[in-house]
Parts: sequence; C-alpha cells; structure tokens
Amino acid sequence: MVKRYTHAAIALHWLIAIMIIANIALAWIWPHAADEQVRPMINAHKSIGITVLGLAIMRLLWRFTHRPPAYPPSYQGWERAASHGVHGLLYAVMFVMPLTGWIMDSAWKDAGTHPMFWFGLFEWPRIAWFQHLDPALRDRLHDGFGAAHGLAAYALYALFLLHVGGALKHQFLDRERELQRMWPGRD
Ligand code: HEM
Repeated sequence: MVKRYTHAAIALHWLIAIMIIANIALAWIWPHAADEQVRPMINAHKSIGITVLGLAIMRLLWRFTHRPPAYPPSYQGWERAASHGVHGLLYAVMFVMPLTGWIMDSAWKDAGTHPMFWFGLFEWPRIAWFQHLDPALRDRLHDGFGAAHGLAAYALYALFLLHVGGALKHQFLDRERELQRMWPGRD
C-alpha cells in the first residue's frame, strides 16, 4: 500500500510545477519571438508568476498543517537528508522567483504607464514604495533584482534536476513506488 500525499498537496504540487515550467518556457521563447509577441508573453509570464506566489503561500500553509507521508524504510539517512534539503530549497525558490520578479517589475521605470493586469482581468498592484524612489536608485534596484531573478532561475534548474533525478532513482533503481506518492489514486 502506497503512502500518498493529501489530494490538496498533490493538486498544488502539479499546478505549481506546470506553471513554473510554463514560465521558464516563456522566458526561453520570448528572446526569439517576433516583437509584437514579446509584450503579451511577458505579461502572461507575470500573471503566471503572481499566481505561483499565491499557490506557494497556500502550499506552505498546507505543508505546515499536514505531515507528509513517511518515507519507505529502505531510504538511507543521506537520501532522506538530501531530499529534505532539496525540498526546502525548492520552497525557497518558489517564493524567491515570483518575489524578485514582482520587485523588479515594481521598480521598472515604465511601471507607471504600463499597469499590470492579472490575465487581463484586474489590475495587479506594483509595490508602491519602489515607484517613489530616486530614479537612479530605482533603476539600480530594477537591474539588481532582475539579475537575482535570473540567478535564482539557475538554482531552480539545478534543484529541478536533483528533484527529478532523486524521484527517478527511487522509482527505477530502488524499485520503490515513489511517483505514486505524488499521484492521485486510491491504493
Ligand atoms: C514561477 C515564477 C517565475 C519564474 C520561474 C520565472 C522565471 C524567469 C526566467 C527564467 C527569466 C529569464 C531570466 C534571464 O534569462 O535572465 C525571467 C525573466 C523575467 N521575469 Fe520571471 N519568473 C517568475 C515570476 C515572475 C514574476 C511574478 C514577474 C513579475 C511580476 C516576473 C517578471 C519577469 C521579467 C520582467 C523578466 C525579464 C523580462 C525581460 O527580459 O525584459 N517573473 N523570469
């Protein structure tokens, strides 16, 4: 019998995973897209990223109130420690990516004339504090948080590879029912 995560934890895991992959795909595609497609792609990227932030908050609250299923007894101490470490860092990146993006966007010199709409539905606020700064400082913060956003993406790629690599090792080399733990089902 497989010990599974709760339905809510599974739904949040896959929703966030799909949205993060979509956002990375957009960021890889827009440098090669036609000019008139770039702005809509960046707008979609911002809306998806803000949604990830909301879902990540819900996920963290759920995680604090719901214990994950115990690991199978065959997992070694170092594997448990590595998996906890990678999961903790993935939670951190889930917040750092959207927050650095939102701050960079709030410090953008054109933010005042280019309001952000969440999937075109309602205006999503910029963090007003950045708009009132001296323009030179605001530009430096924009560039600094933009660089942090790009660096955090590299951390995300490395963590993603470790996360998927670990799951596949347990599934196919150790022959545990690892993927089923994070997949909806009854057994
Ligand atoms: C799941 C969350 C997010 C992920 C995984 C993500 C990922 C990325 C990546 C990989 C890049 C390219 C970085 C580079 O090559 O230097 C990027 C750029 C960017 N992101 Fe995000 N991002 C997220 C959330 C956000 C949010 C919430 C905003 C704003 C509200 C945002 C705004 C931007 C902007 C403005 C750029 C640069 C666009 C340009 O080149 O002009 N991102 N993002």
